[in-house]
Amino acid sequence: MLKYLPLSVLFLSLSAFGEEGDYIDQALCEGCHRSTSEHWSHTVHARIFSAGPRNELEARGCQACHGPGADHLLEPTRSGSIIGFAQRSQTPVADQNQVCAGCHAGGDRLHWDGSMHESSGVACSDCHNPMAEFSSQGLLSRESINETCFSCHQSQRGEFRRRSHMPLLEGKLSCLDCHNPHGSATDPLLKTDTLNETCYQCHAEKRGPFLWEHAPVQEDCALCHLPHGSNHEKLLVTARPVLCQQCHSAIGHVNELITRGNLASGPGRDPRGIGRSCSNCHVQVHGSNHPSGARLQR
Ligand code: HEC
Ligand code: HEC
Ligand code: HEC
Ligand code: HEC
Ligand code: HEC
Ligand code: HEC
Ligand code: HEC
Ligand code: HEC
Ligand code: HEC
Ligand code: HEC
Repeated sequence: MLKYLPLSVLFLSLSAFGEEGDYIDQALCEGCHRSTSEHWSHTVHARIFSAGPRNELEARGCQACHGPGADHLLEPTRSGSIIGFAQRSQTPVADQNQVCAGCHAGGDRLHWDGSMHESSGVACSDCHNPMAEFSSQGLLSRESINETCFSCHQSQRGEFRRRSHMPLLEGKLSCLDCHNPHGSATDPLLKTDTLNETCYQCHAEKRGPFLWEHAPVQEDCALCHLPHGSNHEKLLVTARPVLCQQCHSAIGHVNELITRGNLASGPGRDPRGIGRSCSNCHVQVHGSNHPSGARLQR
């Protein structure tokens, strides 16, 4: 790469050191990293940094992120001569993140420090690639939010392919509807204060208030539902009646356990084991507003 750079340019830039500290003229970076710079020039950073920098740091262009380039100019092939963000870079992840956080702290990233991603050594640049527009927004490293997340979370990709699943692969929602990848006070990286609040964003009717509440619904939707997907209908964690009998096995009419023999195909068919099972009668499993719906049957 060096051989394409006219020597005179090198000397010109070296003589500019005194004034600019360790920063060098951006034209030099562009000269050696031509296509990289061309791609970068279409991004929001390039537009703002060159057209309307709000401070001295932004006006540094490439070097606002990569740091001063003087050492690198002298030894371009020595890795570590400049702040690098690619996988093979010598710059520690924490230092890389510090560069981005210098301009992007706060907001959605209020809980970045100590978050599962930060403490697992994930870098901003694992999800973001500011060198080109790979995604239509958000400068992501892949073409979409979901693909960016799936690049590490393979098992979640499988969960969204189960028989019953949130319509994420169909493009109706993304991981960001429920999670904040930048950190959150709610485990696991949920964007709202509780798990149920996350679900209420779209399933508002489940919030109530109900005259007759069903305790587990108020407590945690995930007691009965797998939020990504399930091979049981309606994202259920397991089939009915087992679902209900995890908690209701020895009270009132349900004091005997419904087993395989009580299913539609069995010798001792029981209405509590057929079809929608317990929900044949207890239809209002999320709560009832009927004056006499105390048993969630209407
Ligand atoms: C004289 C030519 C030259 C100039 C000027 C130059 N580079 Fe480089 N740069 C290189 C070469 C050669 C490499 C090594 C490429 C490789 O290993 O594939 C490199 C590597 C890099 C890397 C990867 C480093 C790493 O450890 O991951 C970054 C980032 C980089 N340059 C940014 C810049 C920036 C920003 C500027 C301007 C401040 C700049 N370069 C100026 C030639 C140059
Ligand atoms: C907003 C911060 C930012 C700015 C501004 C920026 N870069 Fe980068 N650069 C990055 C990140 C992050 C990566 C790592 C991308 C990835 O994941 O592969 C990168 C990667 C690179 C690489 C590839 C390194 C390698 O080893 O693959 C080069 C070369 C480079 N930048 C040069 C430049 C040049 C030249 C400019 C200015 C024209 C510039 N960068 C401006 C953040 C920035
Ligand atoms: C010198 C300040 C500065 C640095 C350093 C910086 N950015 Fe930015 N970034 C900006 C500005 C300015 C904008 C555009 C306005 C805004 O969103 O605040 C922006 C926008 C973004 C956006 C939103 C893009 C969009 O399409 O909405 C992302 C994502 C981003 N930066 C990621 C990064 C990452 C990752 C790094 C570190 C590799 C980084 N930035 C380093 C100043 C900076
Ligand atoms: C685990 C993946 C992931 C990591 C790690 C990550 N981000 Fe993001 N970031 C995203 C996604 C996804 C978006 C949403 C993009 C969109 O709206 O299309 C986003 C959006 C942004 C935005 C634009 C929207 C906003 O909130 O202003 C900025 C700026 C940003 N991230 C900066 C950072 C910085 C700085 C870091 C490191 C401290 C970082 N991100 C780490 C996934 C990540
Ligand atoms: C570079 C790899 C990487 C990418 C990309 C990534 N993650 Fe992660 N994520 C991790 C690691 C590592 C953990 C730590 C736990 C583990 O090993 O599974 C984690 C954990 C999580 C957790 C569980 C947090 C907890 O407290 O248990 C959630 C939720 C999560 N990521 C969501 C996302 C979302 C949403 C995206 C896309 C915006 C994303 N991740 C992209 C690596 C990644
Ligand atoms: C409809 C909301 C929703 C969407 C969309 C969603 N998640 Fe989740 N995710 C959750 C909830 C709620 C939990 C916690 C489950 C629990 O506690 O039982 C969770 C848990 C996780 C975990 C922790 C491990 C686990 O499976 O329990 C990871 C990792 C994760 N999600 C990644 C992702 C990724 C990646 C995407 C996008 C491809 C995504 N999630 C989309 C709601 C969602
Ligand atoms: C961003 C909006 C959104 C959020 C947040 C959300 N959902 Fe959904 N949910 C949907 C959509 C869209 C459907 C599909 C509805 C349809 O196909 O008619 C759906 C369907 C469902 C179904 C029925 C699945 C089936 O197979 O019929 C269940 C159960 C469900 N969601 C539970 C939850 C739970 C539990 C949460 C919280 C962890 C949650 N949802 C959060 C949008 C959301
Ligand atoms: C006690 C177990 C249980 C809990 C807890 C629970 N659900 Fe359900 N949910 C069910 C059952 C059973 C069905 C299937 C109902 C049917 O087949 O009529 C269902 C169906 C659904 C459906 C699809 C059909 C419909 O009624 O719209 C959605 C959406 C849903 N639940 C959301 C939620 C949300 C949101 C929460 C938390 C606020 C929650 N569920 C908590 C058991 C539960
Ligand atoms: C995670 C445990 C759990 C699961 C699973 C569960 N329930 Fe409940 N259910 C409860 C609790 C706790 C109460 C409140 C009992 C009380 O107030 O004495 C309750 C109350 C009820 C009541 C009202 C009875 C009364 O005495 O007030 C009915 C009916 C009921 N559940 C039916 C169901 C059905 C049908 C299912 C399966 C779709 C189910 N439950 C799944 C924990 C659970
Ligand atoms: C054929 C209709 C029917 C089916 C099927 C059914 N139940 Fe009931 N269940 C009722 C009626 C009616 C009551 C109210 C009895 C009363 O008020 O004394 C009731 C009461 C209850 C109660 C409250 C008992 C108490 O002691 O207060 C619970 C809990 C319950 N059912 C759970 C279940 C579970 C779990 C299943 C599935 C294994 C189920 N039911 C299947 C009709 C049914």
